[in-house]
Amino acid sequence: MTYFFETYGCQMNVAESAAAQETLRQRGWTAASSAETADLAVINTCSVRATAESRIYGRLGWYAGLKAVRSRKPAAKPSSYPQAARRAQSGAPPLTLVVMGCMAERLLSSLQSDFPLIDHTLGTWRKDRIGEIAAALETPVCHTVTAQAADTERVYQFPAVSHTGGVSAFVPIMHGCDNFCTYCIVPQVRGREVSRPPGAILAELDVLARRGVREITVLGQNVNSYRHGGLTFPGLLEKIAAHLRQSGSSIGWVRFLTSHPKDFSPALVDTLCREPLLCRHIHLPVQHGSTKILTAMNRRYSREDYLGIAARIRGSLPDASLSTDILVGFPGETDGDFQETLDLVRQARFSEAYMYYYNPRAGTPAASMPEQVPLEVKKARLQMVIDLQMGILREEMAKHIGAEVTVLAEEVSQNRKNKMESPAIRGKTAQNQRVIFPGSESVVNNFVKIHLTGLTGNTFRGKVNER
Ligand code: SAM
Ligand code: SF4
Ligand code: F3S
Repeated sequence: MTYFFETYGCQMNVAESAAAQETLRQRGWTAASSAETADLAVINTCSVRATAESRIYGRLGWYAGLKAVRSRKPAAKPSSYPQAARRAQSGAPPLTLVVMGCMAERLLSSLQSDFPLIDHTLGTWRKDRIGEIAAALETPVCHTVTAQAADTERVYQFPAVSHTGGVSAFVPIMHGCDNFCTYCIVPQVRGREVSRPPGAILAELDVLARRGVREITVLGQNVNSYRHGGLTFPGLLEKIAAHLRQSGSSIGWVRFLTSHPKDFSPALVDTLCREPLLCRHIHLPVQHGSTKILTAMNRRYSREDYLGIAARIRGSLPDASLSTDILVGFPGETDGDFQETLDLVRQARFSEAYMYYYNPRAGTPAASMPEQVPLEVKKARLQMVIDLQMGILREEMAKHIGAEVTVLAEEVSQNRKNKMESPAIRGKTAQNQRVIFPGSESVVNNFVKIHLTGLTGNTFRGKVNER
């Protein structure tokens, strides 16, 4: 039996897709090369922006055509799905389609009635049902799948392992969000914060080490508000680092995502200073540069608080990179407020920024706030902040040319445009900067010392330091 996954949204979704695939592999399933030939296709969805959801509606249209071909319906268009047509002709069973993730959770009851082509929906709290669905497909006579009832008991189950192979892995450590930023759907679709017991986290690290993983990213919607009994986030990071060292683990780098500025404590900065296994990269979404807008967003820090944290990080960890998320066009944002965001971007000199214009999300307070910003103004402001950040990024990256850095070699590049003596190896630094360099395939999965020689777009070029 074979599966095919399409994953949208954040790293938590990537981790949960990996965990679901792990469940299927343990049952003997294998990955199909395309949805057209798979027995089971899973779309793991995101609801954070309307644009994310419209993409998924587009995919459902494509799957409607695919399912018609696989079920040999009279109206099917086999020429649009040639591989599926061959599979159907060989007598393969129809394709089963599962929609999981945040959009499935948001629209649980209506999604399946609006789109009867969906066979099952898996909301946030019942992703473990993928095993039940697989069992029913393996032996349809013996197993039936009960429809997902509205969740009465919202107990989030952390998967035991979220890894699909490769040198890096995500490790979810906390889930949900108690912050209720006024623009954000996440607290509705992911529920309240829960922290994973440290023993289960360390057990997952041991599994990953046995698989040769070299880098982990511990994940949470607000990762730095982790709390289990008396254990706080800095304490957990220290526990993880001590465990990796004592067990002689293959894991040499530890990252974490996503930190909330209001919980970014001085103790966390101290832990980062003390612990060399922790990567010097901090993703700290600011969202906006105006305290007035930050207050309306319910972010619970001011512009000055954020710049203070950034200064503390830069002062204590001069080699750290700081990345962010920026949201323009929040209701009530004047041109003056927006200028404050541009000004903050100039001051903070982020190494990377994910920038969005505000999308109203039904059921969130900001959606019904007065003074919604017109779409064309939001788009123009977004372009301005993107242009500014791109210029800053190039200036910051140019400063690193000539430096010697440690790179985790991740894969052989398949891009023929690299014009390097082959093979070209892709990797990244502890600061999360992309690097490409000529080297032997044997360096993949290893930490390599690289001399940075130049830049192509946002990727450094380098060569292996032979010294
Ligand atoms: N928990 C993280 C934090 O507090 O920074 C962010 C998680 S959220 C899933 C990722 C990003 O999506 C946010 O940082 C924000 O910039 C963006 N986002 C959230 N709601 C949005 C909305 N309604 N419209 C546009 N972007 C949004
Ligand atoms: Fe959304 Fe705010 Fe929670 Fe982040 S902290 S997930 S932006 S509500
Ligand atoms: Fe999207 Fe859900 Fe993540 S809404 S950003 S996939 S938590």
